[in-house]
Amino acid sequence: MSLTIASHEFKARCYALVPCAGVGERAGVGGPKQYHPVAGQAVVAHTLAALGAVARIEATLVVLSPDDAVFGQHVPGFEGAKGWVARVGGASRAESVANGLNELLVRGAQPHDWVLVHDAARCLIQPDWVDRLIDACEDDEVGGLLALPLADTLKSAAVGDQGEARVQGTVDRAGKWAAQTPQMFRLGLLRPALLLALSDPATAAAITDEASAVEILGHQPRLIPGAYDNFKVTWPGDFALAERLLSTRP
Ligand code: C5P
Repeated sequence: MSLTIASHEFKARCYALVPCAGVGERAGVGGPKQYHPVAGQAVVAHTLAALGAVARIEATLVVLSPDDAVFGQHVPGFEGAKGWVARVGGASRAESVANGLNELLVRGAQPHDWVLVHDAARCLIQPDWVDRLIDACEDDEVGGLLALPLADTLKSAAVGDQGEARVQGTVDRAGKWAAQTPQMFRLGLLRPALLLALSDPATAAAITDEASAVEILGHQPRLIPGAYDNFKVTWPGDFALAERLLSTRP
């Protein structure tokens, strides 16, 4: 009996953490892109519906900007036993995630529990892709992320005389992957990794995802093949593409 209790106590749970406190300037929709309507719902409503359909996710924490007054209108009925909201968004994505991890600890998550950080703006995520990530990472020492090997030729850019973009050089694409989310790490690894990276302005500016903070500690997160559809709504044309894909799904 004590063995059963012990194994129950130490079974790692999975939490999802969705940073949703960005302003989304590049999207050009005059407001935070996560609230822009796509196929009848706000971008983030699609994201949260998909995460909510992953049975192994214990609860999903959404990190909002402290002055966010519209989340409840866009995702009515989200808050409950499996849907948590914290208005602790920071100046950068990494700060929002770090603040969200503190909130998970307050709500009873343990250092050995897994946290799947997923962009609010990746609204095409599908539950079986998340399950694929969990299957691949739950026995891994470090954790990992959905990502795709680069298909296109990669250019570095410089600014021309007229302010136009010009090729500076071609970057070898061999062995390069584009990082997506979710990114899955144990809370007890990700939190100190982010805090360390955020403590130095040079590294703070360079950590654009969770894996990059974990890499600074010398770890090598796993790369799990994601999907082309799992793009982050970023540019004005992305909304129409997301709309087409969502409205033609079975
Ligand atoms: O701006 P970017 O596309 O990198 O944002 C990725 C995700 O991080 C989005 O879901 C956005 O809402 C979130 N974010 C955040 N806090 C910030 C900046 C971005 O939660 N300060």
